[in-house]
Amino acid sequence: MITAVVYSESGGTYKTTMTANLAVALHRMGLKTLVLDLDPQEGNLTSLFEAGGRRSDPDADNLVKHILDMPDGSFDDLVETTAEGVDIVPSHDMLGDFTSNLEQKISYETGMQNMSREEYPRFELLYDLLWETEGVQEEYDAVLIDPNARAEDLLYNAIFALRTLVAPVKPAGKGNLSLDGLGELVGNMERQLDIEVGLSCVVPSGVGQTNAHQQYREQFENTPEFATPVSIGNRESLMDAMWEARGSAFKVVEERWKTFERDGEMVSEPGQRRVRDREIETLRKLYALAYFIATETFDADVDPLLDVTVDGETRRIDLRETREVTTA
Ligand SMILES: Nc1ncnc2c1ncn2[C@@H]1O[C@H](COP(=O)(O)OP(=O)(O)OP(=O)(O)O)[C@@H](O)[C@H]1O
Ligand SMILES: [Mg+2]
Repeated sequence: MITAVVYSESGGTYKTTMTANLAVALHRMGLKTLVLDLDPQEGNLTSLFEAGGRRSDPDADNLVKHILDMPDGSFDDLVETTAEGVDIVPSHDMLGDFTSNLEQKISYETGMQNMSREEYPRFELLYDLLWETEGVQEEYDAVLIDPNARAEDLLYNAIFALRTLVAPVKPAGKGNLSLDGLGELVGNMERQLDIEVGLSCVVPSGVGQTNAHQQYREQFENTPEFATPVSIGNRESLMDAMWEARGSAFKVVEERWKTFERDGEMVSEPGQRRVRDREIETLRKLYALAYFIATETFDADVDPLLDVTVDGETRRIDLRETREVTTA
């Protein structure tokens, strides 16, 4: 079972795009993959994948009701299958009120059971739901979570349930290696909850061509403190098109989505993009990242071949070869 929370201390470090790309890469490796979207805000994984049609309907059954053990239906009915084959439990507005709903539940249950509030296992609820109540491990090979880093209760539930982190980082300012916040979080979690939390890898993302950015990338790649299997360049045009294609970077490239101006208006359409080699290289890196997590962190046996088909021409990427891309 492959499980990872895509975590970052700061906002806008490309967590959501990274989660979508990792999930699709894992799926293309032959793994049945589920993603949980714990972020109720706009621009979340749910909107990227065009899921969660009832996310603003307070009466709709949703993940919060299941985490709090008050479901209105079956867990399977929450799951939607995206166009690229990845399954998603979509976000819901109720995630924004998670803590107050949780506090009510804790008051009620501790009152009934003569238990102190501190004893209540508030961070273990998602773990219980996924692995004990629903047996998600029977149906899926991989589970990823895009959490809401600002909501401690949900973030802790995510980490307690999945135990492993993948951390995208973005070069900022002078860019230094400080991942103190991450180390602190992991340490706190481990002490407080008496569990082990692993950092699978760090992924420098949005790395530009400037000296400062390149130095930042090298620092990360050369540190022995954590694994940095790949760095993702500044790929704004490719990644932004994901939000129009409603899917992964693999979809953008294969369907050739592009955003452009037509008669004074911005439009996005498939079949328009001129796919550049560096974009195929970015797909190779995303696939290599998923491969690293699957094989190095979790010891899974997965397919190292990625076929990317653009305009009827298939390019085969073999991660076991140093040669970057070949034409199949
Ligand atoms: N490698 C990249 N280079 C440049 N831009 C990127 C890259 N990856 C993603 N982006 C763009 O950056 C923006 C923010 O990405 P994303 O929504 O994934 O960040 P996030 O960490 O999930 O943000 P939040 O903290 O708000 O949840 C998006 O418009 C996305 O298309
Ligand atoms: Mg996000």
